[in-house]
Amino acid sequence: MKRTVLVTGASSGIGRATTLKLLNEGYCVYASARNLTRLKSLAANGANILELDVTQDQSMQRGVDRIMGECGRLDILINNAGYGSYGALEDVPLDEARHQFEVNLFGLGRLTQLVLPRMRKQSFGKIVNITSVGGKIYEPLGSWYHATKFAVEGLSDCLRLELKPFGIDVIIIEPGPIKTEWGTIAVEKLMKASGHTAYAAAAQAGAKLLALANDETVASKPAAVADVIAKAIKVRRPSARYPIGTGARFLMTVRKFASDGMMDAFMQFMLRRASARQP
Ligand SMILES: NC(=O)c1ccc[n+]([C@@H]2O[C@H](COP(=O)([O-])OP(=O)(O)OC[C@H]3O[C@@H](n4cnc5c(N)ncnc54)[C@H](OP(=O)(O)O)[C@@H]3O)[C@@H](O)[C@H]2O)c1
Repeated sequence: MKRTVLVTGASSGIGRATTLKLLNEGYCVYASARNLTRLKSLAANGANILELDVTQDQSMQRGVDRIMGECGRLDILINNAGYGSYGALEDVPLDEARHQFEVNLFGLGRLTQLVLPRMRKQSFGKIVNITSVGGKIYEPLGSWYHATKFAVEGLSDCLRLELKPFGIDVIIIEPGPIKTEWGTIAVEKLMKASGHTAYAAAAQAGAKLLALANDETVASKPAAVADVIAKAIKVRRPSARYPIGTGARFLMTVRKFASDGMMDAFMQFMLRRASARQP
């Protein structure tokens, strides 16, 4: 039987690479994002494309209803849509902070609510939540982004236990720096919020650290994440979490064993090292 997958944030980066990988492996993939035009090339590769905004309830309901109408089932949900709202906590307007939570956390939670009744009826389902190494580690001027990713980690751990009796797996994917549009958007947000405030010097340093996600010598390719997702949804007993990409395992190990003081010193060292890099 051909499994049906819904991918959010499929118009770019990790979502796009995952869509292509799963199409290649024979899945029936619904690739979704806000911008249909950016999804057209995926349609040419065999994806069903869906206009879906994870901040709009009706948009998510329409998307799930369409998949159920056309396929009668939805086996795998890949909650990938997200962005990095960077800036000093003091500088980021609360409306922006709320939007960050709507996209990265509440959208993921609501879409999961919409698919679960179907998955429970099927006694089969996989919820794949894309968090980040930033769901366990932290950096200055990233408080709202990290708050969302820490929240997705906690939500996913609770959900894994909740859904175990129904035969539904919850899989946490924790990418390190990946070369996508994410880094550019995060730097734009950071400079807009804090580039001209009391935090301007810290923002310059932070921008260099974020820019590592755009640096091919440091960042991994989105296809590396897609490969891990494709493997994780196939195994009968997936791991709870999959760190993936340059330095991801290393960073998670450091976080596991370092005290908070050691971790603070490590992050400050990383920032100093990044800010010493030539632009
Ligand atoms: N790249 C990294 O270094 C990195 C590291 C760790 C974790 N991550 C996480 O990986 C996930 C994918 O990011 P990426 O790196 O692939 O970034 P990306 O290239 O910027 O892709 C983000 C995707 O999210 C979609 N999106 C944004 N707002 C949305 C909304 N309201 N509703 C629906 N879709 C929306 C965008 O499409 P539209 O604008 O067309 O809607 C786009 O397809 C994110 O959750 C990110 O936090 C990335």
